[in-house]
Order: sequence, then C-alpha cells, then structure tokens
Amino acid sequence: MSPALLTRAPREAALLAVGEHRSAHELTNADLAARLDTSDEWIRRRTGIRTRRVAAPEESIVAMGVNAGAKALATAGVDPASVDLVILATCTAARPIPGLAPQVAEQLGARGAGAFDVNGGCAGFCYSLAMAADTVRAGSAETVLVVASERLTDWVDADDRSMVVLFGDGAGAAVVGAADVAASRAGTGAVGGPVGIGPVAWGHDGANAPVIEIREQFLQMQGTAVFRWATTSLVPVARRACELAGIEPADLAALVPHQANLRILESMARSLGAPDAVLARDVVDNGNTSAASVPLALARLVGSGEVESGDLALLFGFGAGLTYAGQVVRIP
Ligand code: COA
Repeated sequence: MSPALLTRAPREAALLAVGEHRSAHELTNADLAARLDTSDEWIRRRTGIRTRRVAAPEESIVAMGVNAGAKALATAGVDPASVDLVILATCTAARPIPGLAPQVAEQLGARGAGAFDVNGGCAGFCYSLAMAADTVRAGSAETVLVVASERLTDWVDADDRSMVVLFGDGAGAAVVGAADVAASRAGTGAVGGPVGIGPVAWGHDGANAPVIEIREQFLQMQGTAVFRWATTSLVPVARRACELAGIEPADLAALVPHQANLRILESMARSLGAPDAVLARDVVDNGNTSAASVPLALARLVGSGEVESGDLALLFGFGAGLTYAGQVVRIP
C-alpha cells in the first residue's frame, strides 16, 4: 500500500441501488391447507404470511443472486467489470465448499473483484453491508456488490406444518459506493448526507445456538423462544444503530427488519418509537427468506415509492447463530 493511501482521509459509504429476484412460483396458505393440518386463518393470525415463493430447480442460489445483483448494478449505472468486491450472504448453500460468491462475481462479469461468502444467518445481509461500507471507507474498494440469496425450502421438511408455513426463497442485492459518488449521481449533496450507511450495531447470542439449527437434514426452531428474543432483547440494539448514526428513531422514514413474522415486526416497530416510519411487510407474500429478506423488503419499498431517495431507513437482521446486526441507511 502506498504512503498516500495510508494517509488518505476515509470516504463515507452509501447505497447506490438495490435489486431483487422473486420466483414466479407461489406456495399459498390454501396450497398448504390442502395437504397439511393447518389453515389460512391459523397461518395469518400467527405469522401474517399469505403466500411465499419457492424457487424452481434452475433458480439456484447463484442464479437468483446473479439476477438480483445484475438489476442492482444496472440501476446504479455501474459496469460489473468495475466492481471491486462481491459479498454473498447465504446460509442455505447445498455444500460448504466451494463458496458461491466467486461464481456470482464470474457470471456477472465482475472479473477483477474479490469474492467471498458470509454466513450470518438471517442477519447475513446486514453483516455484509457493514463489511461493504467499511471496505469503501477504508479505501480497499470503490464499489462493492452485496448479494443475499437463499433457498430455505431446500432445508424445510415439507410435511412439518410448523416450519413450512414460514419460509420461502429469493434474493436481494445492494450496490455500495462512495457517498460523494452517490450524491453526484443524484445531482444533490444530500444522498451521502450525515448518514450514507451508518455504523453497524451488532452482536450474537452463541449460547442459544440450538434455538435455530439444521438437525437431521431439516431446519428446526424453538419458535416461542425466537419470538420472545426478537421482541425483547433486540429493540435496544435497533436503538443503538440509530444512536451510532446520530439520529433518533423518530427521524426514520422506514423500518426494514428481517422479515421473520409480521407479529414480531409490528411488536418491534411499536417498541422502537418511530410512529411515522413505514414498516416493511414483505413477509406477507414472500415469507421468511433469511438473509435475503432485508434487501427484498427494501427493494419493494423503493420500487413501490413508499420511501423516497434521501429518506432514512433502519435495516435490522436477526436469526440463526444467534446473530443480529443493524444499521441506518439513506435510501438511494
Ligand atoms: N397450523 C396449525 N397449527 C399449528 C401450526 C400450523 N401451521 N404450526 C404449529 N401449530 C400448532 C402447534 O402444534 C401447537 O399445537 P399444540 O398446542 O396442540 O401443541 C400450537 O399450534 C401452538 O404452537 P406454538 O409453536 O406454541 O405456536 P406459536 O403461537 O408460538 O406460533 C410461530 C408459532 C412459529 C408462528 C411463532 O412461534 C413464531 O413466529 N416464532 C418466531 C419464528 C421466527 O420468526 N423465526 C425466524 C427467526 S430468523
């Protein structure tokens, strides 16, 4: 590293664009009730979920990630060849070796990029976004593509009514670059603003790892324990992410928590004290897609116009590990 780089002032990082991949194949509550001892009414009351997406065999983690990543890069106007780093958040790969980020990078044409996987459970996207932002701040990269891609349905027992109702497949992506680049693209000085991508608030509860784990090939979960943990212990961490960004929860235009269950999301939103913030509700027709859920939910808010460029949003992931991570971002 040259002396000039060692002394260079850090640059602020910002989101440049987001992208998504949603499978066309739906698995509705009615489909599940037709073959299992459950009902649309039970599923909606306990989880808020109406339907979920199930990836076709050709919609691999890599293929979905490439599609979401390509859309994010196109929206950002970034040439894939100029991407310096690709981070893939996933916890549902069929095999631990090889990691899949290099294939995502290769297929996107990001041939000069570093590439690695992150397994941060359902918090994987927020962990990866923190890494991406810090990499830009440190000067190790100009542009980072963060992809989160999951096939939960490969790991859920289709006959386990307590699990199959919750989970779906999909991918989301975000392009991270320097805040001054984001501001000049938007033709405003505001996009980087006081917060492009705020510092991350993160942590773990490794002592409770067995609460969510794959046992005997299938995902198992102590649902009530997860519910209690998410609605009590995690709200102070979300507040901490706001503090680190130098804002109050009331300044937030949107809350984008991991899309685990609508009751958890609504409880967190009530406790946080952000009465005017839009709450992302992608879970209703996408189910829980683990690491992909935060970027999918964010992409929906951006695409639907429920948030505008320059708005502040809190992203917050939590899940298997147990892990959690959250940060405030400015909407690109
Ligand atoms: N349809 C009908 N009944 C069902 C059912 C279904 N799909 N799934 C479970 N049940 C039954 C159970 O068998 C149980 O029956 P029993 O009382 O006769 O034993 C009853 O419903 C209550 O089960 P319980 O697990 O106590 O329900 P719950 O109110 O805790 O709701 C969850 C279950 C999974 C919806 C809830 O615990 C939850 O959302 N937890 C958080 C899960 C989560 O988001 N995890 C992801 C974090 S990354």
